[in-house]
Parts: sequence; structure tokens; C-alpha cells
Amino acid sequence: MARKRKGWQVRRGPATPLTKRRAGEAASAKIAVLSCTHSPFTPPATHKWLLDTLSNLKGVTHLVHLGDIFEASAASVHPDESDHDLFEEYEHAAAFLGSLRGALPPTVRCHALMGNHDDNILVSDPRRIPAALRGVTNFMQAAPFAPEAKNWHWTPYRKDRRGCLEIGPVILTHGFDAGRASDEMEAIQFANFCGGHAHRLVVRGHTHRPVPPTQCRRTSSVPLPWWYMNVGTCGPLQPKWMFRKDTSQWGAALGIIECKMNALPPFIAKEWNAELLRMPDAF
Ligand SMILES: [Fe+2]
Repeated sequence: MARKRKGWQVRRGPATPLTKRRAGEAASAKIAVLSCTHSPFTPPATHKWLLDTLSNLKGVTHLVHLGDIFEASAASVHPDESDHDLFEEYEHAAAFLGSLRGALPPTVRCHALMGNHDDNILVSDPRRIPAALRGVTNFMQAAPFAPEAKNWHWTPYRKDRRGCLEIGPVILTHGFDAGRASDEMEAIQFANFCGGHAHRLVVRGHTHRPVPPTQCRRTSSVPLPWWYMNVGTCGPLQPKWMFRKDTSQWGAALGIIECKMNALPPFIAKEWNAELLRMPDAF
């Protein structure tokens, strides 16, 4: 049984799919989804594009951040020293998430999923976090992030049904593997975790490579009944820890999904529409 969630707590029990309408909920949902903002390195131009785009959208019911809210430099195994500390990451992330909420009506339901960078802070691995810092690594309770965290519904970082959010036929998760085929493979895995029903869309980030809605395929001539979309990264496009690697496929994007909330699994058809809005390249 799922434990009852209180306030800011991350859900620990099995997922509670939002596949059933709550009393008073609309028959359809409009989801705005972004990922990988990596505070405090979110580029100001990307932040402005997000706020402008969100404030011009009509009818949004859900805002979803797919995780890697923090860069988590303090918990990194990469050798680069950063000039900022964990407190500054908390401070930046709180202001950033608050600004996203402020661009949308107060009725919008806000969800945040933990990414691997966020989880690196929370798990306080002794190889990553010195003992003297472990008292401040629970950002859900530590100021200045805690007050903002209470405005969001949280999902833990784990590769099973508890590590995703279901809104109608749409499944949202941060992402775990990073290879070229990982969007498609994890779409199939998460569709299976969530009952194996056809006609679902799985949305993730993690690789930082935006991918528009794409149908899974067994072979080029055998399509599978699941789709995936990757919303890329709204964080830095050339971070220090990637200086030897190719980031040319990385990009900033926002996913916009409209779906029916009055359809229950098994879905008889594709009950959603999705598009990937790419931030125009700077010249
Ligand atoms: Fe990321």
C-alpha cells in the first residue's frame, strides 16, 4: 500500500497513477514539461525563454520538472572545483522553480521528479559527500529550498513504477541510461512497468538530447504501440565536466502535451498529442 504523502515528502510507496479523474478534475490535461536545469548553471537566456513561453501558453493544467534541478557540484565525482557552494544551489533552484510557477496560473499542479544529480545529494554517498556536510544534504528540509519544495509533488529517482509519474496515458520519468537507444528502450521498460498497455507516451530528459515524439519500433517495418519524447536540457550546453565530449546534440526544449484524463487503461487509441518546442539557437 502507498504510504500517505505529507507535504514535501517524496513518495515511498508504489506509484499512484493519475489515470483516474479526481473529483472536479477536467476531462483533459495540458502538461508543460522540462528537464535538467542544473542550478545554478541555468543560462539566463534559457530561463527567460522558458518564462516567456510558459506565460504565453493557454490552458496548462500540469507543470512537470523531470529532474536534475541541481547541478550537485558538492556531490560530484568529477575533479572540477566550482566557485559556488551547496547553499547557492539551493538558493538558485528555489528562485528558479518559484519563477516557473509564477509564470503560470496558481491552479496549475506542479510536479518535480528527482534526477540522478539530485539523488546524488540526497543519498549522501560517503564517496561523494564528506561527513561534515551530510546534515544539509536533505534539500527537502534545508533552507532555503524547503519552502519552495512544498509547492511541488515529488517522485523519487528509481527505475521502476515508483520512479515515474503517470498523467492519463502519459508516463514521465527522468531517465537512467544515456546511450543512443536509451529513449526508446526506457519507453518500452516504463510502459511495461505501468501495466504494458499500448498507446502510451513516455517522456524523459537525462541525455540532454531533445527528441520529438517518436514511435518505438521493433524493426523498420514493425512499429510498436509506444512513443517517446526527450525534452533535452534547459541547463548549460557545454558544462565543464563535458569539456572533452561532444555536446552538439544537446538542446533546450519544452514539451507540451495534451491528453485525455477520462480514458482508462487499456487505452483503445492514442489519447494524447505532443509537441517539442525547441528554444531557437542564439546567433
Ligand atoms: Fe541532466
